[in-house]
Parts: sequence; C-alpha cells; structure tokens
Amino acid sequence: MEDLHFALFPFPEQGHIAPMYQLALHLVSRGAHVTFINTETGHQRPRQLLDPPNQHNTLKHLCITDGISTQRRASLRHDVIVSDANGVADLSYSSMPILLRSLEGQASFLEELLDDLKGSRDYPPLSCLIIDAFMPWTAAISQKLQLPWIVFWTTSATRLHYTVQTLEPNETDLEQLKEMENIPTLTSASLPVFDLLKLQNPDRRQLLVERVEAMKKAHSILLNTFDALEEEAIKGLQTKLPVMSLGPFCIGAGGNTEALDADDECMPWLDRQTSGSVLYISFGSKLILQKDALEQLALGVESSEVTFLWTIRGGVEDLPEGFLERTKGRSKVMPWVSQGKVLKHRAIGAFLTHCGWNSIIEAIVGGVPMICLPFFADQPTNKILVESKWRIGRGIEGSKIAAECIRQAIQDVMSNSNFKREASLLSSLASSAMSPEGSSYQNLNFLLEKFCNHGT
Ligand code: UDX
Repeated sequence: MEDLHFALFPFPEQGHIAPMYQLALHLVSRGAHVTFINTETGHQRPRQLLDPPNQHNTLKHLCITDGISTQRRASLRHDVIVSDANGVADLSYSSMPILLRSLEGQASFLEELLDDLKGSRDYPPLSCLIIDAFMPWTAAISQKLQLPWIVFWTTSATRLHYTVQTLEPNETDLEQLKEMENIPTLTSASLPVFDLLKLQNPDRRQLLVERVEAMKKAHSILLNTFDALEEEAIKGLQTKLPVMSLGPFCIGAGGNTEALDADDECMPWLDRQTSGSVLYISFGSKLILQKDALEQLALGVESSEVTFLWTIRGGVEDLPEGFLERTKGRSKVMPWVSQGKVLKHRAIGAFLTHCGWNSIIEAIVGGVPMICLPFFADQPTNKILVESKWRIGRGIEGSKIAAECIRQAIQDVMSNSNFKREASLLSSLASSAMSPEGSSYQNLNFLLEKFCNHGT
C-alpha cells in the first residue's frame, strides 16, 4: 500500500470536506499516501483544523486557489442559506453556484498541479484521483493524465438512486420506486430531484445529467454509507453505476478518534449531565434561521423543559428576550462544537437536526434518535429514511415552524425507548461495517488491492 498515492479533492464546503477528510484518514491508516487538496474558500470555511499536528507524514495538505478574489470572497455569504418560519429555505443566498463556476475555471491550473503530483519525488507517483461528484469536469483531466477517476458522493445512496432513476428516459414510476425503497410515505414533494423536474429548469436538469453521465465512466463511486443501512438503494445502484459503500465516514467511526475541531469546551459540561438527558440542536454548516423561525424553535425547546446543547452560528441576538436567562442551568449555547464527538457522548438523548447527510450519519454512529426539521436538497428525503425506514426518530408536524409542534416532537422522541433501541442497533451495524470483517472495511480493501495488483 505504501506505493499508493491518492489525490483527494472535495467540493469546498464543510459538509463535503469533512467526510472526504475522514476517507483520507482511512486511506492513510491503511498505509497509502494522500494529498488532500482544498481551496482558499474551503480552507476558510470549515471550523476545523485542516492542518492538524502532522501525525501522518503520509498525509499532505495542499491549498489551491478557487479563482475567487479575496474581495469577492469576503462579500460572499459563506454557505449561508436563510430559512424563514415556514421552513422555506432561500437558496439564492447560497454561494454554491458561484463556487461551482469558479472552480471549473481553474481546470488547467488543477491539471498542472496533478501532473506535478504524478511525477512527485516526495511521495510515490500519483495513483488516482478521488473527486467530489459536484466536479464532473475533472473527468477530462484524469483522462488526459491517464489517472483513474474515482467519484466521492457526499449524500445518501438513496438520493443518488433517485437521481439516476429520475433522469432515465422512461417516466419514473413513483409507486415502483416507493415499493423498491420500502418507504411508506414517499411523496414527490420529498424528492428534490422531482421538484427540479417539476420546475422544468433545463439548467438544473443539465447539471444533474452531466454529473450522472460522468459517473457512468468513473472507475468507482464511493458512498458515505454502509450496506446494512441502505441495502436496497445500493443494490439498485450497482446495476447502473460502479458504486461501493465505504462509510460511515465520521469521527468515532472505524476506530478513528482524530478530532477535526479545536473547540471541546462543551465536553466538561456534557460530562456533568446524566445519560440520555441532553437534547443536541444543530442545523449544519450552511443554514441560518430567520428571527421568527428561531423564536418559535426556542420557545418550543424552552417549553419542553429538557436540558439542551444548541449550536447557533449566527443570530444568538435573535433568540427571544430572556430565553438564555430562563433556561440557565439547563442550557449551553455555542457557535460551533465538535459534533461528531458530541453525538458520541453518553449524555445526548436526542438530536434536533436539519437532516444534512453528515449529521444523519454522525447520529447513527452515536446511536442517537433524531427529531427532523429538514429544509432543502436531500434533507426531506433523509427525514423519511429516519422516520419511516429506520424508525429512529420523527419529523416535526406542520408546514410552519411552531413552538407547540417542536415541544411535542422533542418530548416524544426523548421519552420513546423504541427510537433509542433502534438507533443503538443501527449504531452497532455501523461499527460492524467498519470492523475488519465488515462490508465497508472489506470494500476499501478491495479498492486498494485493485490498485496494488493492477494499477487500475
Ligand atoms: C450540506 C447540505 O446542506 C446537506 O443537505 C448535505 O446532505 C451535505 O452538504 P450541511 O448543511 O452543512 O451540508 O449539513 P451536514 O451534512 O449535516 O454537515 C454539517 C457538518 O458540520 C457535519 O459534519 C457536522 O459534524 C459539522 N458540524 C456542524 C460541526 O462539526 N459542528 C457544529 O457545530 C455544526
């Protein structure tokens, strides 16, 4: 394995960088060399240490330009998507389209850099590229450099499966999909891809077509999931794409305890709480709630009377007046925590989440039941998986964020031992997948052996 050298390039957003970084650590732990490429924007965004003390001399970080000027970067609302009390996320706040375009503009620069790595003297010559599915244009670079192109898919296998099915020429039969996925409450409104088609936005459709078409030519597509978690979707995908599940990729999975975040201030506080008594609340790295939504949420949390740890990345001042004083003694509000570690703490009894895929995976690894409040992209689909497929939590009723519904959902999930039991079972399956006999561990072996034996 020590002759293998992988270049990993995530899309520069927290939710994409974090799981790929975990993959990098797994590759290094198997003896491979890794060059982890990040961009200036990505480097600034994650609240994590991307240059940890150099414990691994086989893991090198490279920070490249993403073509966005310093001035422009400062004016970008970094990853922020604002959502109002109706639970409607305003995607126009997202800087994703700007980044997508700008990164593509760096293609020739990236090609030069990878060509250099190919002939690297510090490390073995580059064996292969592992690139986020959001950057299909990198397939042409790998072809030119004659390097295998591996795709990293950030969200669920279920989501990829729907995407592929939806783009197929025959009109997709929703009932058939529903049966195949064994999800009782699947509705087209829950599937963002269907929404895109419904809107008949040719640009968005084109974007998806390009991604899926490129993936068909990939050497492999790596999924941040495990076979027992999304068996049907993975099997369905395997007939169409070269997918393999290698996850879960997060802190604490597969014996990896290396923390990315510097801030562990909440840990001593959690240590003082009784087991299963704390509600953890967080909405990922992009979403910011508007004042009225935040207020309703806070009032619901307050009236639930539970002890809670809440990460609020912006707008603490928008909390209802006196909220922090009234909940003092049973609350901790922080701008950012080491979520992977928090969700592994015995004190956490439930997670109120926006259902980003990393949050879901981290909660599964921690065996933590969820209260789902999804907003956009894959999040509504993830909620359905939690609620109806795995039965490890429930969503919040109503189309509007309302304090009373929040209170009910919190009390229901925190007191329901069935959710906890199912979540613990899934957590054990996650550990098994990453153990040396497990499916994900074996799949990674298989991938590495392919390179060792044949170079492709
Ligand atoms: C984005 C999309 O919004 C989501 O729908 C998609 O599934 C992945 O990409 P994001 O909204 O940031 O991700 O959510 P999520 O996938 O949950 O990723 C957030 C990451 O930030 C997680 O790894 C989480 O551990 C980390 N985090 C968040 C922290 O470490 N600390 C915090 O306080 C909050």
